[in-house]
Amino acid sequence: MHAVGIVAAAGSGLRLGADLPKALVPLAGRPLVAWSVDALRAGGVAELVVTVPPGQRDAFAAVLPADVRLLDGGATRTASVRVGLDAASVTADVVLVHDAARPLTPPDVVRRVLAALAAGHPAAVPVLPVVDTTVVVDDAGVIRDAPPRAALRRVQTPQGFDRAILAAAYARLAPDADLTDDAAVVRAAGVPVVTVEGDERAAKVTVPHDLAVAERQVRR
Ligand code: C5P
Repeated sequence: MHAVGIVAAAGSGLRLGADLPKALVPLAGRPLVAWSVDALRAGGVAELVVTVPPGQRDAFAAVLPADVRLLDGGATRTASVRVGLDAASVTADVVLVHDAARPLTPPDVVRRVLAALAAGHPAAVPVLPVVDTTVVVDDAGVIRDAPPRAALRRVQTPQGFDRAILAAAYARLAPDADLTDDAAVVRAAGVPVVTVEGDERAAKVTVPHDLAVAERQVRR
């Protein structure tokens, strides 16, 4: 099974309060994107494409292995993944789409996603249970619904797909579509998505507190 990894790294880092792209923010002295690339490699994905903020290729090339392909990402995560997917070799059987913002994803999560694809599933994503009560509110912040927690999951990356199926699903999307993950893209095309066990250590670094937690994780 030939796997290609696409790392979405074209985000701005606004919520992290950083003055450089989020993927270049250091965690224990190394940029988040370098950790994320390592995580995919450690899990068995050798070929990698990274989409970066336009104008930042040199900065990313300086911190990543020379065999990683760098491409200018788009205005949204969906647009950035589309760029990476267009560049992924058509000889790839499967693609794993990963957030640069999930630097400490354990290799076992990557392996579980690959195993589900090898078993013949067209799409597989890592998930975790929801521990808080989760509610739906209206515009005024008043609770309108509280879906039963038992069936809810938090979705992580890397998300794995049969390459041709993901490419076909992206081809059906409106050019300006903006979805928060790739499972949503294939589900919109009617493709079933199976889940595998995620890992708390694959948490997304979004706000400064997340970075502090990740720093502690590295020290352990
Ligand atoms: O904004 P959010 O944290 O959901 O972004 C998830 C991932 O998508 C990040 O790794 C970010 O770099 C990436 N992204 C991207 N292109 C964008 C916006 C976000 O590749 N335009």
